[in-house]
Amino acid sequence: MNDLFLRACRREPVRRTPLWIMRQAGRYLPEYRKVREEVDFLTLCRTPELAVKVTLQPIDRFGLDAAILFSDIMTPLESLGVRLDFRPGPVVAEPLRERASVEALRVPDEGEIAPFAVEAVGLLARELADRVPLIGFAGAPLTLAAYLVEGRGSKSFPRLRALLHAEPETADLLLERLAEMTVRYLRAQIRAGAQAVQLFDTWAGLLSEREYRRFALPPVRRIMKALGGLGAERIYFAPEASAFLPALGEVEAEVQGVGWRTGLARAREVLGERFALQGNLDPAVLLTRPEVIEAEVRRILVEAGPRGHVFNLGHGILPETPIENVEALVSAVREGAAREAGS
Ligand code: CP3
Repeated sequence: MNDLFLRACRREPVRRTPLWIMRQAGRYLPEYRKVREEVDFLTLCRTPELAVKVTLQPIDRFGLDAAILFSDIMTPLESLGVRLDFRPGPVVAEPLRERASVEALRVPDEGEIAPFAVEAVGLLARELADRVPLIGFAGAPLTLAAYLVEGRGSKSFPRLRALLHAEPETADLLLERLAEMTVRYLRAQIRAGAQAVQLFDTWAGLLSEREYRRFALPPVRRIMKALGGLGAERIYFAPEASAFLPALGEVEAEVQGVGWRTGLARAREVLGERFALQGNLDPAVLLTRPEVIEAEVRRILVEAGPRGHVFNLGHGILPETPIENVEALVSAVREGAAREAGS
């Protein structure tokens, strides 16, 4: 088993920096697009054999150092009674706008939350046993609430932000239910064999530090604390949170994901040595040329230092990314990392 990723998460010495890519299974891959010609996105997520197949595509092609379950942050919400569609981003049939609709959400037992995803984790854990570790994941409560309240993606989710101010108790109730669901869901993924879990808090950075601390941080702390001691590395990813980096340090986790707008050196300075850092190549760099990619990879490796760093993008890979540029990234991290270690 290639354990570089797990060792880096634990801040143990590694012979080279490990690499995986957020959204590594997805539309930039021709073999993914081929599968998608036959099935829609939700069917793909709900069919364990297909989710397994797509999860393995980037591992087989690039030899990355970790696999991530193919699913979406929104899929477990169906088990709470939410009706969902993807066009291509998530669309919620009946956005949650009143207290009554939040009260109607029922948090199911562990075994009833996206059982197809948990089954895929089990199949993958067996399939990958002597290859690379498997990362499970979920959306953080605030980020899930953003879609549930707004009804779809948005630049700045004004209805969510309005709810926090106008009906803080309703917001708390929603965030608490989502936290409870997420604890159960991630625990099930860990029991099924996920060796790490990442909590995606994509939209947390829309809040002020005050609202972040008041609404978003408590449920994240609760989730991460509940997942401690289960044998899985915990990664928290709040990519645009540079306005309140010190608050992230209050999350109990092994790894902090860093978005491309925050320097790794600054993240290290503020967060200290307690966390490994994951990131943070700007996904737009992968739209350029191999020389540009190599130079930026080297710069990031130097900035991060050799220990406690998981190389990744600072956000999901863009669908228009050329395959050759991903290949350039993979060899730059391998060679660059070796050179840094040797120098
Ligand atoms: O990383 C991986 O390879 C695992 C799979 C994964 C997907 N979504 C598959 C997907 C993961 C980890 C996610 C997380 C996710 N989904 C987040 C958090 C991370 C982030 O990127 O900020 C968010 C906010 C979502 C919500 C979502 N789902 C959006 C905005 C979209 C549409 C556009 C897009 O960015 O791709 C989706 C659909 C989706 N989820 C696709 C994939 C591969 C595209 C679906 C298709 O094939 O048409």
